[in-house]
Parts: sequence; structure tokens; C-alpha cells
Amino acid sequence: MARFSLLHAFTLLSTALLAAGGPPTRCKCLYRQTCWPSQQAFDALQSQLSQPLLHPKPIPFPCYRGGNASNACQDIRDHFTEGLWRADIPGVMQHNNFNAFIFPNNTISKCPLNPTNGETCEQGSVPPIGVDAHSPKDVQEALRFAKQYNLKLVIHNTGHDFLGRSAGRGGFMIWTHRLKDITFHDSFVPLNQPGNAGVEAVTLGAGVQWTEAYTAVHARGKTIVGGISTNGTVGAAGGWILGGGHSALTPTFGFGVDNVLEFKVVAANGKFITVNAQSNPRLFWALRGGGGGTFGVVTSVTYKLHPKVPVSGLFIIANLHEPGTRPTNRDGIRPNSPNAVRQGVGRLRKLLCDLGLVDFLGRAERVSSRGQLLNATAPFDSFFDWYDFIFAQASSQVGVAIEISSRLLSKDTALNRPEEVAKTLLSLPRGVAFNSVAGGAASRIDPASTAFHPAWRRAIAEVAISEPVDPENTPVETVRAAQDRLKASTKLLDTITTDSAAYYNEATLHEVDFRKSFWGPNYPKLKEIKNQYDPTSLFVVARGVGSEEWDAELNCRK
Ligand SMILES: Cc1cc2nc3c(=O)[nH]c(=O)nc-3n(C[C@H](O)[C@H](O)[C@H](O)COP(=O)(O)OP(=O)(O)OC[C@H]3O[C@@H](n4cnc5c(N)ncnc54)[C@H](O)[C@@H]3O)c2cc1C
Ligand SMILES: *[C@@H]1O[C@H](CO)[C@@H](O)[C@H](O)[C@H]1NC(C)=O
Ligand SMILES: *[C@@H]1O[C@H](CO)[C@@H](O)[C@H](O)[C@H]1NC(C)=O
Ligand SMILES: *[C@@H]1O[C@H](CO)[C@@H](O)[C@H](O)[C@H]1NC(C)=O
Ligand SMILES: *[C@@H]1O[C@H](CO)[C@@H](O)[C@H](O)[C@H]1NC(C)=O
Repeated sequence: MARFSLLHAFTLLSTALLAAGGPPTRCKCLYRQTCWPSQQAFDALQSQLSQPLLHPKPIPFPCYRGGNASNACQDIRDHFTEGLWRADIPGVMQHNNFNAFIFPNNTISKCPLNPTNGETCEQGSVPPIGVDAHSPKDVQEALRFAKQYNLKLVIHNTGHDFLGRSAGRGGFMIWTHRLKDITFHDSFVPLNQPGNAGVEAVTLGAGVQWTEAYTAVHARGKTIVGGISTNGTVGAAGGWILGGGHSALTPTFGFGVDNVLEFKVVAANGKFITVNAQSNPRLFWALRGGGGGTFGVVTSVTYKLHPKVPVSGLFIIANLHEPGTRPTNRDGIRPNSPNAVRQGVGRLRKLLCDLGLVDFLGRAERVSSRGQLLNATAPFDSFFDWYDFIFAQASSQVGVAIEISSRLLSKDTALNRPEEVAKTLLSLPRGVAFNSVAGGAASRIDPASTAFHPAWRRAIAEVAISEPVDPENTPVETVRAAQDRLKASTKLLDTITTDSAAYYNEATLHEVDFRKSFWGPNYPKLKEIKNQYDPTSLFVVARGVGSEEWDAELNCRK
């Protein structure tokens, strides 16, 4: 059955290519252009899919055209900053700014939550139509269609991307969110691996989110290396892993990319392939850190599992502000190393709540006088219990409008120039997130084994900064000013790096040289693999491998 439909897809594809003749078109076809497929064409696509086609709209759509006081609109206001709720809405980004679109003439297409009188809800960067993929076959049909009509393709999972890579004005979307299968293996042997030495593993469908993965793996009595966010909203088998994947467990078990055994992928040529160290090994290297939305559509990822081990949380909150001034979010410092354990978790939670800290560690809102220190450790039976304590009930991180930027702090710099590092971090105007998600076991893994920037292997932490960037509620001049501040702060951060290395998944659109910052010496090989697996550039995302060949909107070749 699958084979038959594949054959069918190939026949259609080769016909399309023959008919078109000549080199690939310079521009992709966008919604409302004359090249856009007809209703009949969409009907034909529909007949091949397991689910109805999607017609994504910006979240506040029901609040317009007299709907401002409706129950639907009230519901939206109530949930607007909940990550799990937002992820269930097809095609929209977690950060509002990426749902808007700024034209070259500085006009903004947008749909703010609170409309002014007479305002209309505009589509912005939300793709107008898409496929609700429930199987690899749905993905194959969608890819075939996108290729046949030369559409601007958008792969969208949870919408957490910090560069808006899962949005695309006038694009055609593949929504991977409903690929939710979770399958455990007692002894997983990657396809074509010689011998039969397997390891305990789990296969996660591309739409599984960390909360779902953690819950299932914990019930199995195991640990998995994964990302951290309030309510575990980030995708466990999409952009996170393709961009590298850092975790609080990284110093113990390595990065996400160090824990993958195998991917299943629908490639640009429409084939459903297995990708591991033996099968498609070059693609296996590239998918581990080369970036989402670039090499193919991943339909599942198989990860190694680790034993369940006890975890100690160490909480240090220092107040560094001048006496009499209000603490800012730079005042919180949170390293994580195990230590003597005397404090009950219940008491600690209460203490942190009293300090206003369970909210989100790093914001010491109520630590009042300079030098006051909270230094507490707490025992947890497992990573899951720690995660649940800190993040399952934490405050929202999404539904706001921000851009961010990052740099990797090398162990060498941190040890040899600590004062300069501290001074630089404290001089940043809006504080800094200090993510202790590198070093230890991750530094002992061969940097050449994956496409992840080799600077990660020398790092002890990722530092990240942010600026509010809100094209929906502020004028374009304010947006540009905030972006300029972000660029200036990035430049400041750069004084404590030697190679401008940044995290592809937590980065800015405004890097001076994104190829250098995201991949360093790995870029040329990544570009070769991109050309091999996606010769017609079906997959293009902002600051992704090969994106330098496209214009600012990623619609036309330069
Ligand atoms: C609140 C928050 C917390 C975070 N915490 C962490 C963390 O702890 N560790 C960490 O490393 N990162 C973290 N991140 C960054 C996160 O890794 C990226 O935002 C990541 O891109 C999210 O991937 P996604 O699939 O969930 O999101 P999406 O925005 O849907 O997708 C991201 C990118 O991947 C592509 N993509 C998605 N699915 C597929 C697929 N199946 N096949 C091919 N391409 C695909 C998309 O096209 C897009 O380019 C966090 C981000 C946020 C907003
Ligand atoms: C986290 O999930 C719970 C349960 O779904 C929900 O009530 C809560 O509002 C969520 N929190 C955030 C910040 O999204
Ligand atoms: C800006 O450009 C867009 C898209 O081309 C167009 O629709 C809009 O009318 C323009 N606005 C102004 C003020 O020129
Ligand atoms: C829409 O509703 C909100 C919240 O009830 C209110 O503050 C706002 O003024 C309303 N806007 C309009 C245009 O009616
Ligand atoms: C925090 O507590 C640990 C264990 O009691 C101790 O070793 C460490 O020095 C303390 N740190 C600070 C900054 O007081």
C-alpha cells in the first residue's frame, strides 16, 4: 500500500519536472499569486489525506468583527499565555511577534489581541493553509504537492522557534503536532547495524512534547535527556533535537544529539527513509545539530534511555543590587550541583514561594537587601521529580513578544577571565539567562560525531539575552530600536567569546555571520549534505543552512 502510493507520487513528480523543464523557478509560489493551486488541486490533495486541510488563523481572530465581547474571545484572553494551549492551535507561533509580518515599506500585517475600533485581523506570517499530518503518508502527500506547485513550505510543530522559522507568510504548512506515538523498546537495534546488541530506547513521534515524553519515560522507570520549559511545551522530536537540544541533564548524559539512535524522515524526494549511523550516515550527522526545517521532515526520533537516578537541586539566589534599589532579574544566579541535603522539598517550595521564586528561578523579586543569600539544597527521587517541582507549575514563558540572542561561554574563558565575564554579564541592560547546560559528559564526546557547533564541547554554559520586540502593539521604529539594542548587547557578549558561537535554537536573526555563529567549521560539509538531500531547496528557513542564497523573505533566490 505504502509502496504503491510512493510509486504514484514519483510518477506525478517526474511528470511535473518534465513538463516544467529547465532550471528551478527563482521564486516560490505564494498564497493569492496566480500560480497558487486551484480549489480543484486542493480537492485532489484532500482526497489523499487522512485529515481535513487546515486553514490557520491568528489566535485573536474571533475577537474581531464584533467578536470582542464573545465567549470565544474571552477564552482566548484567559489562555493567551499558556504554551500547551497555544501549541494546539495550528500554525501560530508561541511568541506573538512572529505571527505578524513587516513589509519592506514598514507597513505591518498583524492581528493584536486587543483590537482598536474598526481594525481588521490580518494573517501576518501565519500560513493560510496546511496539512494536519497524522502519518508519514500525509507528509509525503503534502511534500509532493508543495513540490509540484513550487510552494513556500513551512514545517510547524509547537511554534516555539525564536527566529520565526515555523511561520511563513503566504506559505503551505505541514503540521507535525499530531504525530504523537510513543513506543518503548527493551532492546533497540538501529536498522542495518551489524550484530544484535540493542539498548533500551523510546521512539517519539515528531509531535510529542517534553511533558508527554517525561511522563511516559518516568512511568517506565527511566530518564531521558530533554528540554526544559514551563509545562514541558517544547517539542521533543522536532526543532529542539535538530538544532542540538540542551538539557539540565546535559552535563551528565550529553546533549540531545548525543542521545539519538535513529530518525525516520520524509526526504525532499518523497521517500520515507531511515537515518542512523549505518543508513544515510551523512544525513544522520547533519540532522544532529544542522537545524530544523532544512534537510527533510522528521516523523520520529528514537532516543537512548538512561536509568532513573536521584537528583539534588541546589538553589542559590544572590541579591547583587545596590542597597535601596529595586532588584532586577539579573539578581538571581542559579548554578546546579548536588550537595548536602537537609531541607525538605515542601519547606523549600514554601520558601521559594515566599520569595516569589517558584515563579521562575532567576527572578529574586523580593530579596530585599544587598548580600542576602538563599542557599538551599533539596533531594529529588528522579529528574522528573525535580522538573515537576520547578517547571510544571511555573509561570508563563510565552504569549509575549520578544527576540533573543545567545553566546556559548567557554570553560577556558570562565576559568581564566572570571571577573571580565562577570562584569560583562552584569553590564547587560536587561540581565542575562545563565544556562548551565554544557560541560561534563557533553565535553568528552567527539565534536566531529555530530553537526552541532564544536564550541558546545568546550562550553560550560549558554548565556542568553532578550528584548521586547512587539510589531503588533508598537510602531515599527520601536521595533527597530529594540532590535538595535539586541544587536548592541550581542556585540557586548561577543567580547567574552573567541568565535561568536551561538545556539541555533536560541538566537537572533541579526547575527553578523550566522554560518560562523551556528556551525563554525561544520558549515561547508552541512552545505554539501543540504545540496545532496534537497537539491531544489524545498526546505528553506531563516538563517538555516543554504538560506544565504535566498532573499530576506525567503521567497526568491538572490
Ligand atoms: C519557552 C521555551 C523554552 C525552551 N527551552 C529549551 C531547552 O530547555 N533546551 C533547548 O535546547 N531549547 C529550548 N528552547 C528552544 C527550542 O529548542 C526551539 O524553540 C525549538 O526550535 C523548538 O522546536 P519545536 O519543534 O518545538 O518548535 P517549532 O517552532 O514548531 O519548530 C522549530 C523549527 O524546527 C522545524 N521543525 C519542527 N519540527 C520538524 C520536523 N518534524 N522535521 C523537520 N523540521 C522540523 C521548524 O520548521 C522550525 O524551523 C526553548 C524555547 C522556548 C520558547
Ligand atoms: C500549565 O498547565 C496547566 C494544566 O493544563 C494549566 O492550568 C496552566 O495554566 C499551565 N500554565 C501555563 C503557564 O501555561
Ligand atoms: C506597503 O506594502 C504592502 C505590500 O506590498 C502594500 O499592500 C501596502 O499598501 C503598502 N503600504 C504603503 C503605506 O505603501
Ligand atoms: C475589547 O474588550 C476588552 C476587554 O474586555 C476591552 O478592554 C476593550 O476596550 C475592547 N475593545 C473594543 C474595541 O471594544
Ligand atoms: C551553599 O551551601 C553549600 C553547602 O552547605 C556550601 O558548600 C556553599 O559554600 C554555600 N554557598 C554559598 C554561596 O554560601
